[in-house]
This record gives sequence, structure tokens and C-alpha cells, in this order.
Amino acid sequence: MKKRVLSGIRATGRLHLGNYLGAVKGMLELQSRDDLHTLYMVADLHALTTPYNKDELKTKTREVVLDYLAIGLDPEKSIIFIQSQVPEHTELFYLFSTVVSLARMQHLPTYKDKIKQYPNASTVALLNYPVLMASDILIYNASLVPVGIDQEPHLEVAREIARKMNDAYGTNFPQPLRFATSGEYIPSLAGEGKMSKSIEGSYINLTDDLKTIQKRLAGAPTDSGKGETVPTTGGVANLLKFVELFEGKDRYKQYALSYMHEGIRYGDLKKELADAIYKELKPIQEIRAELEHKTTYVDEVIKNGAEKARKIASETVKEVKEKMGLCKIK
Ligand code: TYM
Repeated sequence: MKKRVLSGIRATGRLHLGNYLGAVKGMLELQSRDDLHTLYMVADLHALTTPYNKDELKTKTREVVLDYLAIGLDPEKSIIFIQSQVPEHTELFYLFSTVVSLARMQHLPTYKDKIKQYPNASTVALLNYPVLMASDILIYNASLVPVGIDQEPHLEVAREIARKMNDAYGTNFPQPLRFATSGEYIPSLAGEGKMSKSIEGSYINLTDDLKTIQKRLAGAPTDSGKGETVPTTGGVANLLKFVELFEGKDRYKQYALSYMHEGIRYGDLKKELADAIYKELKPIQEIRAELEHKTTYVDEVIKNGAEKARKIASETVKEVKEKMGLCKIK
């Protein structure tokens, strides 16, 4: 049997370059491999773990599907679906929660970060985030997960759950590994930390036009443009990282040399970089604009995706319930 791949993105708004380079590019790459069976979902249930607007959730969920299709995820090659439309995920999640200790969840760095960010929203759902994620992955027996490096602690939890379930109940879950891209950590444009939807000034969205990209890059911090060594952290290091990702290693090296000799003119660098980023995003935006009118096609993709995913997911849940000693339906 082909190895399975599973990944997802939360339905929390427009995708940014971090999501694109850290996750979707890996999803695309794996989709084209014949030895793999790829499943890609929109994590709408995970979007409920931090404050959200219920009137916007459906639109945001669909936006991610449109982004997936526009970037090139292909329903002929991958199962594309919405997490909440495969209720088996939450069923397996509950069964998994019986082998996870409270202390383990409370000490996860991702959980601690989120409760710092949303001090009034430390819910049980947030605490359980990684358990649901483990269920998303293991319900398909997926062994490869294309996600950014920030998701590694969650994958560690998924591996632990797989081991515990296998030891306690004789299941045969794989130990899922992260599939890393060269953009596994996309830094913030603001100079510190990572690019994130929740930090204004840190991101460029996939739907941004050239003017917006120029404006966002204009806000990125710089220095005098010259020095003995090229900075490895902060605003300039981050800008150069974007040069490397969008204009290639050679262009990066030229800038690094300029920094140590005649100096960099950041106005020129930012203009050139904005053009390079927009060049990559423009075709995606064009396909996306067409897809916005193809409502029936997108509805079909979503419906078929859920049906195909449920077939696999229900088999796993049935097996786990039996192995855990629950009564069978006669
Ligand atoms: P989310 O929506 O927070 O992030 C989606 C994906 O984007 C990646 N990412 C980044 N990669 C590199 N640099 C960045 N600055 C950056 N910011 C975001 C994330 O690593 C992620 O791959 N928990 C998942 C959603 C999920 C999931 C799953 C993923 C739910 N169930 C099962 C895989 C398998 C998440 O972080 O979504």
C-alpha cells in the first residue's frame, strides 16, 4: 500500500508566505510523488480553539480550499476536505485523549504561547489541540506530514500517542514524521520572531497585490546597509532570507558581498524583492480569481473529498473501537 501524507491549515484567514513556503509547497511536492497518497484538509475545528467569529468561519474555511486549489493542489491527485465534515476525527480524538496525560499537554510550548496570547481563552479545546491533530494524522495512518518547524512539538505528541495506543491496544499506527521544506521557518517582516497571521506587520498574504507587497516590505526594519559581517538575526537577516527564497542563493550571495563592501541600498533591494514575490504570487492569484466563479466545481471538490476521507477514517475508528473493547454494532 502507498504511504499516506496528511496536512492541514487552520481556517483563520488568508494564507501568508509562511503557510505557503512552510506547508503548502511541501504539500504540492508530495502530491506529485507516485509512491504517496496525499490528503489535505482545512482545519476548521482547530480554528475554534482560539477566539473566532462564527459568521465568518464558513467563508474562511472556503478561502483555504480556494487557496489550495489555486496553488495547485489537485483533487484528482489528493483528497481535499474539510476537517469537521469527517466527524470520525473527533471520535478518534476522544479515544486518543484517554492515553494522554493532562500534565503533558499543559507543558507544551505551543499551548503556553497561545494562553499568553489569549489569557481569557484557555479552554479545554485549546489544551486538546495536539490530540485532535494526532487524530487528524493517525486516522489515515499517515506517516509523513508537511508542516513548518513550529509544528514539531505537535508531531512529537502524535508519535507518543501512536506508541501508547500500539502498546496498550495492539494497534499498528505509524510514527509520523515531518516533511520539511526550505521554508520551514519563515521569519517575520517586522524583524523578530516568525511570520504570523496574528502579528500585524509580520506577514505578506498570498492575495496581496504588488502595491501592498511594496508597502509591507517598506515597513521592514533595516540598518545602514554596511558592516564587517552580514547580520544573522533581525530585520536585515530576514530580508536577505526572503531574497534567498525568492531570488535564489546567487542573488543572496551578491547582496551579502555588497553588505561587506560598497553597501546595500535597501530601497532598491525592497523594490526588486517585491517584484520577485509578486511574480510568484500573480499566477496563483489569477487562478484563484477564476475559481471564485466556479462555485459548483468547488462544492463538488469539497463533497467528494469528505466522502473519500470518511471511507478511510471510518475503517480506522471501527478498528480502534474494537481493539479498545467497545461494543460492536450488531
Ligand atoms: P496553522 O494554520 O497555524 O499553520 C499552517 C501551516 O503553516 C505553517 N507555518 C509556517 N511555516 C513556516 N514559517 C512560518 N512563519 C509559518 N507560519 C505557519 C505551519 O507550520 C503549518 O504547517 N496545527 C496546524 C494545523 C493542523 C494540522 C493538522 C497540520 C491541524 N491538524 C494535522 C498537519 C496535520 C497549524 O499549525 O495550522
